[in-house]
Amino acid sequence: MKKTFFRFFGKFAFLLALSATITGCMGPGAEKAAVVDGPITFVQISDTHHGKPIHQYRFRQAVDNINNLPFEVTVVAHTGDFASDQLYREDRAAAISNILAGIKYPLICAPGNHDLSYLGKEPEKRYADCLEMYRKYIGELGQVYETDEAVFIALYTECLRRDLPVIEGYDPLKWLESEIKKAGDKLIFVFTHTPDGTDFYNNKVHNGWPEENRKAWRKILASGNVKGVFCGHYHRDELQQNDDGIPVYVCSSIANFWGRQASFRIYHYENGKVSYRSVYIEDPPRDTVINPDGTIAETEPVAVAE
Ligand SMILES: [Fe+2]
Repeated sequence: MKKTFFRFFGKFAFLLALSATITGCMGPGAEKAAVVDGPITFVQISDTHHGKPIHQYRFRQAVDNINNLPFEVTVVAHTGDFASDQLYREDRAAAISNILAGIKYPLICAPGNHDLSYLGKEPEKRYADCLEMYRKYIGELGQVYETDEAVFIALYTECLRRDLPVIEGYDPLKWLESEIKKAGDKLIFVFTHTPDGTDFYNNKVHNGWPEENRKAWRKILASGNVKGVFCGHYHRDELQQNDDGIPVYVCSSIANFWGRQASFRIYHYENGKVSYRSVYIEDPPRDTVINPDGTIAETEPVAVAE
């Protein structure tokens, strides 16, 4: 009896599915499901601050973890502060480039305030030297990775946040506007170092970008199909929502300043929604000797007295 029922139900279900396929209707929500909108998985890493062996170790570990994720990763974005104000030194820039080269996925980068440093007795010269090294070892100030479905845009915006020397041929707002236009209807994900909104630390709210620049930035973002802006700089996790509906996701750092444990983020976009997971990196035991390049030093075993 049971067998007959299942056979009958099976036939009925088949006819139902066939009629639904013919009429193009599979019930409520069918129209939404027909629109392809993701899934896309991408990774963000930020504030690696080259200069301390533990930072290089953490950076290498993060690269290794990213390369071994059990997901199809479309692109990796580094949102700046590759260095700690020493990018003008060619050995530092080359060392950073060497670690970045280990990432097996497509990579886009945006420099931070500690990359193009405006410091010292001759800040203009320091800025120009850092810029030269950045371009030589990491890449252009605006970078794009495009797929059939999405456009990932990383760009330098510190010059919108504070007064800095003009970089000939680089206007971040004009450049972003033209890239967003080119992207058309595709999904857009924008990466930069410092969030445009207010910053909260030492129990005080601090100003974000100057209002004029912030408005212009937001207007350009809203002109395209931008699903989110992804930043670093704060060395802590944060989410800022805006009236235009474009959220700003802030991920924590690889660097250990303020006692932070190293982490990076995996984002998953599907049907208009961005989700993320944080992946934490374990430091080695305290007595481990780390080489300046972040590898573990081969140490002689300590002799034990008999
Ligand atoms: Fe930083």
